[in-house]
Amino acid sequence: MPSVEGLGARRAALQMLDAVLRRGQTLDAASSSVRNLAPSDHALAIAISGEALRRLPDLDALIDSATRQRLPHDSKARTVLRLALAQKTGLGTPDHAVVATALPLVDGGPRRLVHGVLGTLLRRGLPPMDAPMLPPDVEDRWRSEWGAAVVQSARRQISHRPPLDLTFADDGDAQAYAQAYEGDSLAPRHVRVPSAAVAELPGFGEGRWWVQDLAASLPARLIPADARNVLDLCAAPGGKTMQLASGGHLVTAVDSSGSRLGRLRQNLARTHLDAKLVEADALEWSADTQYDAVLLDAPCSATGTFRRHPEVLYRARPKVIADGAELQAQLVERAAAWVKPGGALVYSVCSLEPQEGEEVVRAFLSRSSEFRLEEPHDLSDFVVPSSDGWIRILPGVLEDRGGLDGFFIARLVRGG
Ligand SMILES: C[S@@+](CC[C@H](N)C(=O)[O-])C[C@H]1O[C@@H](n2cnc3c(N)ncnc32)[C@H](O)[C@@H]1O
Repeated sequence: MPSVEGLGARRAALQMLDAVLRRGQTLDAASSSVRNLAPSDHALAIAISGEALRRLPDLDALIDSATRQRLPHDSKARTVLRLALAQKTGLGTPDHAVVATALPLVDGGPRRLVHGVLGTLLRRGLPPMDAPMLPPDVEDRWRSEWGAAVVQSARRQISHRPPLDLTFADDGDAQAYAQAYEGDSLAPRHVRVPSAAVAELPGFGEGRWWVQDLAASLPARLIPADARNVLDLCAAPGGKTMQLASGGHLVTAVDSSGSRLGRLRQNLARTHLDAKLVEADALEWSADTQYDAVLLDAPCSATGTFRRHPEVLYRARPKVIADGAELQAQLVERAAAWVKPGGALVYSVCSLEPQEGEEVVRAFLSRSSEFRLEEPHDLSDFVVPSSDGWIRILPGVLEDRGGLDGFFIARLVRGG
């Protein structure tokens, strides 16, 4: 049988989507286990599976509208259809290529059914999907926590890749870069550029900047400028370590993952920055000194990163969130012990779940009378501290200029 052009990329996309939805992998992990593919096919496979994840509930509703047969959610036929429709709606692939690369993937399955559903939907024409639904459990949770307008904004933002945020070691350099390349600078040392291949952007090789969502750069901005020794807990791959090191702090960066610390080491080498690196579980490691400031950017469900990683919404089941909250409570307790009297503890998570943010800090403060919240002023004009004194970034903030990842950040100060 003659081979169909582009089939390899679609087969890989099928493998990736299956690994994400049935085995709970991240798309990064799923894509790195696919080998022996040309780089352009590999990139196409990631793009196709990513587009499917951005609009899965809408694609499923379309599929169900074109057949009376209930295709199980984890069936190969449904996964093939999702990928085929995602190409049409997200990448503008022509109908004939969509069909020709979908049917061979169903081998042994209901080929006629898949052909029929695709034919019906392509003839009908796909509706625009500019604000696709989020998974229903996430919509219910966020609607009750944050309200309908936030869900609506999240729907609009999940439909496309967000712009890239670059953090610079030096603000003068950031402003010059913004001017030279028509970037948008929304804060000191920050430039926003359209989504692109990172290594191809000017200045990458010279290590002038690193990629970091603007929201993710806020926690390190809350470390007092005069804090000399700073402990960066859960530090890899090191966006915040680089901010701190380039800000003149002496940084000790701790992370339990050797491979992620390896990336942190590479990042420091590329940007010509320095920090002391420690590979250790923060729950077992013991600091031999106290620090002027501690930054704890805790592991979490990462639901705030859904614009770049739409699969987080499928991984963040209630148990994952509850387990995360338990770990965060233990980590914040450890981190607090290493803060000098009068020093600051900044706690952050890229999560849109109050269990991992507000509730962790509330519970910590109720246990520890030594710490109090210190409301951050003058951080920027787009970040307004909540009435509780912490920062909660929801979908919708700066949406007209490209949006921000969801984040929770609190600065606590130890009585001196
Ligand atoms: C949200 S990421 C950190 C991102 C990082 N702060 C940055 O700005 O690039 C969480 C990190 O926590 C690390 N981690 C998870 N559990 C840990 C533990 N018990 N002790 C130390 N690090 C841990 C993970 O390996 C991961 O790198």
